[in-house]
Amino acid sequence: MAVHDVLDAADVPEGGGVLVEVEGREICIYRIGGEFYALHNYCPHQGAPMCAGLVSGTNLPSDVYEYDYSRQGEIVRCPWHGWEFDIKTGKSLFSDRTRVKKYELEIKDGRIGIVLGK
Ligand code: FES
Repeated sequence: MAVHDVLDAADVPEGGGVLVEVEGREICIYRIGGEFYALHNYCPHQGAPMCAGLVSGTNLPSDVYEYDYSRQGEIVRCPWHGWEFDIKTGKSLFSDRTRVKKYELEIKDGRIGIVLGK
Protein backbone atom coordinates (compact mmCIF):
# COMPACT_ATOMS: atom_id res chain seq x y z
CA MET A 1 0.00 0.00 0.00
CA ALA A 2 1.32 3.42 -0.94
CA VAL A 3 -0.11 6.86 -0.35
CA HIS A 4 0.48 9.34 -3.17
CA ASP A 5 0.22 12.99 -2.19
CA VAL A 6 -1.65 14.77 -5.02
CA LEU A 7 -3.01 18.19 -4.03
CA ASP A 8 -4.29 20.57 -1.36
CA ALA A 9 -7.80 19.78 -0.12
CA ALA A 10 -8.61 23.47 -0.65
CA ASP A 11 -8.05 23.00 -4.39
CA VAL A 12 -11.14 20.78 -4.71
CA PRO A 13 -14.27 22.94 -4.87
CA GLU A 14 -17.39 21.87 -3.01
CA GLY A 15 -19.61 20.02 -5.48
CA GLY A 16 -16.87 19.71 -8.06
CA GLY A 17 -14.22 17.30 -9.24
CA VAL A 18 -10.51 17.72 -9.92
CA LEU A 19 -8.59 15.40 -12.21
CA VAL A 20 -5.19 14.14 -11.04
CA GLU A 21 -2.80 11.55 -12.40
CA VAL A 22 -1.05 8.96 -10.23
CA GLU A 23 1.22 6.29 -11.67
CA GLY A 24 -0.43 6.55 -15.08
CA ARG A 25 -3.98 6.41 -13.66
CA GLU A 26 -6.35 9.32 -14.11
CA ILE A 27 -8.40 9.80 -10.95
CA CYS A 28 -11.11 12.35 -10.23
CA ILE A 29 -11.32 13.72 -6.69
CA TYR A 30 -14.74 15.03 -5.65
CA ARG A 31 -15.84 17.02 -2.63
CA ILE A 32 -19.33 16.46 -1.25
CA GLY A 33 -20.39 18.13 1.98
CA GLY A 34 -16.76 18.64 2.96
CA GLU A 35 -15.87 14.96 2.44
CA PHE A 36 -13.60 13.72 -0.35
CA TYR A 37 -14.09 10.81 -2.74
CA ALA A 38 -11.99 9.49 -5.61
CA LEU A 39 -13.14 7.65 -8.73
CA HIS A 40 -11.24 6.32 -11.72
CA ASN A 41 -11.66 8.65 -14.69
CA TYR A 42 -12.99 5.78 -16.82
CA CYS A 43 -16.60 4.80 -17.41
CA PRO A 44 -17.18 1.00 -17.30
CA HIS A 45 -19.50 1.25 -20.32
CA GLN A 46 -17.21 2.49 -23.10
CA GLY A 47 -14.45 4.35 -21.29
CA ALA A 48 -15.63 7.96 -21.24
CA PRO A 49 -13.76 10.39 -18.98
CA MET A 50 -16.00 10.45 -15.91
CA CYS A 51 -14.44 13.62 -14.54
CA ALA A 52 -16.03 15.49 -17.46
CA GLY A 53 -19.47 14.30 -16.35
CA LEU A 54 -22.09 16.52 -14.79
CA VAL A 55 -22.33 16.32 -11.00
CA SER A 56 -26.00 16.46 -10.03
CA GLY A 57 -28.75 14.58 -8.27
CA THR A 58 -31.16 12.05 -9.69
CA ASN A 59 -34.81 11.11 -9.84
CA LEU A 60 -35.56 8.39 -7.30
CA PRO A 61 -38.20 5.72 -7.97
CA SER A 62 -41.63 7.23 -7.49
CA ASP A 63 -45.27 6.84 -8.44
CA VAL A 64 -46.53 7.62 -11.93
CA TYR A 65 -46.62 11.38 -12.63
CA GLU A 66 -44.56 12.08 -9.53
CA TYR A 67 -40.90 13.10 -9.56
CA ASP A 68 -38.67 12.66 -6.55
CA TYR A 69 -35.44 14.53 -7.35
CA SER A 70 -32.88 13.96 -4.63
CA ARG A 71 -29.21 13.43 -3.72
CA GLN A 72 -28.11 16.70 -5.32
CA GLY A 73 -24.33 16.77 -5.77
CA GLU A 74 -23.85 13.05 -5.05
CA ILE A 75 -24.28 11.66 -8.57
CA VAL A 76 -22.00 11.94 -11.59
CA ARG A 77 -23.50 11.42 -15.03
CA CYS A 78 -21.27 9.94 -17.74
CA PRO A 79 -20.69 12.57 -20.45
CA TRP A 80 -21.14 10.13 -23.34
CA HIS A 81 -24.33 8.12 -22.69
CA GLY A 82 -25.64 9.38 -19.37
CA TRP A 83 -25.14 6.42 -17.06
CA GLU A 84 -25.33 7.67 -13.49
CA PHE A 85 -22.95 6.71 -10.68
CA ASP A 86 -22.93 7.32 -6.94
CA ILE A 87 -19.78 9.34 -6.27
CA LYS A 88 -19.53 8.01 -2.71
CA THR A 89 -19.46 4.34 -3.73
CA GLY A 90 -18.72 4.28 -7.46
CA LYS A 91 -21.77 2.08 -8.01
CA SER A 92 -24.10 2.72 -10.91
CA LEU A 93 -27.65 3.61 -10.01
CA PHE A 94 -29.05 0.71 -12.01
CA SER A 95 -26.87 -2.19 -10.80
CA ASP A 96 -24.61 -2.94 -7.84
CA ARG A 97 -22.40 -4.93 -10.20
CA THR A 98 -21.62 -2.03 -12.54
CA ARG A 99 -19.31 0.48 -10.98
CA VAL A 100 -16.51 2.95 -11.47
CA LYS A 101 -13.41 2.00 -9.53
CA LYS A 102 -13.23 3.88 -6.25
CA TYR A 103 -9.98 4.81 -4.52
CA GLU A 104 -9.33 5.33 -0.83
CA LEU A 105 -8.01 8.71 0.27
CA GLU A 106 -5.96 9.93 3.18
CA ILE A 107 -6.28 13.56 4.26
CA LYS A 108 -3.38 14.84 6.32
CA ASP A 109 -2.44 18.42 7.17
CA GLY A 110 -4.77 19.72 4.46
CA ARG A 111 -3.24 17.52 1.76
CA ILE A 112 -5.02 14.75 -0.12
CA GLY A 113 -3.26 11.45 -0.69
CA ILE A 114 -4.53 8.61 -2.88
CA VAL A 115 -4.02 5.11 -1.54
CA LEU A 116 -2.94 2.61 -4.19
CA GLY A 117 -2.38 -1.10 -3.78
CA LYS A 118 -5.02 -1.61 -1.11
S1 FES B 1 -19.26 5.55 -21.91
FE1 FES B 1 -20.22 6.05 -20.04
S2 FES B 1 -22.30 5.56 -20.33
FE2 FES B 1 -21.34 5.04 -22.21
